[in-house]
Amino acid sequence: MSKEISLTGIKPSGTPHIGNYLGMISPALELAREYQALYFIADYHALTTVKDRVTLKRLTYDVAASWLALGLDPNKVIFYRQSDIPEVMELTWILACFTSKGLLNRAHAYKAAVDENLERGFSADEGINSGLFFYPALMAADILLFDTNYVPVGLDQKQHIEIARDIAQAINSNYGEVLTLPEAVIREDVRTIPGLDGRKMSKSYGNVIPMFAPSKQLRKSVMRIVTDSRQPDEPKDPETDNVFAIYKHFAQPEDVERVRQRYLEGGLAYSQIKNDLYELLETEFAEAREQYSQFMEDWDYLDQVLLQGAEKARKISRPKIAKVRKALGID
Ligand code: TRP
Repeated sequence: MSKEISLTGIKPSGTPHIGNYLGMISPALELAREYQALYFIADYHALTTVKDRVTLKRLTYDVAASWLALGLDPNKVIFYRQSDIPEVMELTWILACFTSKGLLNRAHAYKAAVDENLERGFSADEGINSGLFFYPALMAADILLFDTNYVPVGLDQKQHIEIARDIAQAINSNYGEVLTLPEAVIREDVRTIPGLDGRKMSKSYGNVIPMFAPSKQLRKSVMRIVTDSRQPDEPKDPETDNVFAIYKHFAQPEDVERVRQRYLEGGLAYSQIKNDLYELLETEFAEAREQYSQFMEDWDYLDQVLLQGAEKARKISRPKIAKVRKALGID
């Protein structure tokens, strides 16, 4: 019996933080239990913004090292670099010919860039490269090339999956059932992890808790999480507190309940719960941090893993592109 496929792409944009871990990495890794799971490093997507060769390389290995350290098993899943799969590019062009330009005009990332230009009094497309404009078509190719059923992503990527479906439908309605319609998988419960300042944890806000930072630095970050100024003996609101919002994802359920009660009753100092959170994070990530450092010192090993992954991926992508071309009359 062939398993259904889950696939997700990771844009190489720095070492992941615990918001990425809870919102995306951990749910994505769980899918490997049920599905044939594919994970890839979206280096061609990164090229829309990263224009420095050394940086792009380092970011690519950083993602590979992080995911392997966090438990991705390359023998059970297919883990590869997008740029090692030439069929992705081939399919991107094919899809482009079935993607209305208006659809891409409405894509959030492009629209936001245009709006910002207009706000500043520039012309609409000032400084916007066509790669950014075509980003959703490339992403659709990533997904449709592997007959993906499920795509675990953050809420910000939902529109991209809808675009992929629209494109697949356009092709299917012209040629019959050539492409599989994908579905986004979005975990509602963990999608907003607050950062140090209480806003969503995000690299662009500079408020992240990095999970592979040395213990001392990890501790420092946790201690910097913003709370209100209630004294230890005062009752506190667990539902609005940023420390609790993170704590509850790492502690055992019975501890979460116990701590929730202590918030409500008073008698728990923020410094105490921060210390508990720090210890939980230290336990959770100490081993992964060690592995991450080892992988980062062995790029040859990472290359080897990714190339083996690409070979496995191409066993799917080669016959798929052949089938698509045949359907189109390009064979
Ligand atoms: N656009 C995604 C992001 O920014 C990365 C990505 C590229 C992706 N291709 C994909 C995600 C295919 C899921 C499926 O995070």
